[in-house]
Amino acid sequence: MNRWLNRGLWLLLLLVVLGLAALVASALFLGEQRAKRRLDIQVQPVALRSDAEALARGRYLYGSRGCVDCHGAQGQGATLADDGKGLKLAGPNLTRGNPVLAGYQPQDWVRSIRHGVGRDGRALRLMPSEDYNRLTDGDLASLVAYVQQLPAQPGNEQGVVQLPLPGRVMYGLGQIPEAAYKIDHSLPPSQPVPEAVTVEHGAYIAQMCVGCHGVGLRGGRIVGAPPDWPAAARLAPGEGSVMPRYPQAETFVAMMRSGKREDGSAIGVMPFSSLKTMNDTDLRALHLYLKQLGAT
Ligand code: HEC
Ligand code: HEC
Repeated sequence: MNRWLNRGLWLLLLLVVLGLAALVASALFLGEQRAKRRLDIQVQPVALRSDAEALARGRYLYGSRGCVDCHGAQGQGATLADDGKGLKLAGPNLTRGNPVLAGYQPQDWVRSIRHGVGRDGRALRLMPSEDYNRLTDGDLASLVAYVQQLPAQPGNEQGVVQLPLPGRVMYGLGQIPEAAYKIDHSLPPSQPVPEAVTVEHGAYIAQMCVGCHGVGLRGGRIVGAPPDWPAAARLAPGEGSVMPRYPQAETFVAMMRSGKREDGSAIGVMPFSSLKTMNDTDLRALHLYLKQLGAT
């Protein structure tokens, strides 16, 4: 009797193991299919610029909106993670030294930056285009103007997104969707508003916080983030909102520049090396916008 029970258990265990292996294999297969999928997104090219004003604006945006973190100060590409255990993330070279970028047409810039779709029609895996989807035509053109005049650099032609096995399984099961699958591609670009300490200008800048803080800035776990990352803070009003900590613009600006709360504790994950280069107008407008979310 006992022996039969034992055998039954072994058989069950075997079936479970086989079942899991089949699940992992099909998830990996689905992941490969997903990565190959081509998206057909029609975009309107934006009139590109190369004037001094656009260059200066582009330099500022490139440095303060995070591009520099993933693509490097000279646009040469940058390694974001390489833990030797299967996780490797790197942003590609954006200069003319990269043949893909050298062949970029105006609509290719729009498709990749705003819509998260590369020149070959594949969804970009890591590039947070949901943060950049609502860039005004002027800001997009300025970013491109800046990137295009960067001196050609060699190497890093392809971005690298290598996940450890659990990540690959989750990706295959559609649990780590690319920006292109999260973006509402029918939304028009934002209309320009004057750069000033206003709610409207703050709302425009806050578009670049949605990738991590979520639509509506309600916070929570960042999709696809490593397990040791803290959840993104709730910026929207409601239980757990962090904004009551920042009644004054001064404390908010100090936090964004230092990466620390008023009590000196460090804030995790946020890309402060680039965010801290935002100018006072942008930071104060951002604060005004976030604060008034709670007032309505
Ligand atoms: C979190 C990191 C990250 C940030 C921030 C980021 N990128 Fe990327 N970007 C990537 C990665 C990685 C790729 C390669 C494709 C992918 O996502 O796997 C990429 C791809 C691109 C491409 C397409 C290149 C190609 O091969 O077609 C362009 C253009 C680009 N990024 C421009 C920008 C600009 C401009 C900004 C700032 C407004 C920016 N990126 C911000 C990580 C990032
Ligand atoms: C790459 C992801 C990422 C981006 C981009 C990002 N955040 Fe965060 N943010 C986080 C995470 C994660 C936390 C929680 C950190 C912690 O608990 O240590 C956080 C915390 C915060 C906090 C709480 C600070 C405190 O007192 O605890 C504020 C305020 C904030 N973010 C504002 C912003 C704003 C505004 C933007 C856009 C300009 C932004 N974040 C962009 C990930 C991000």
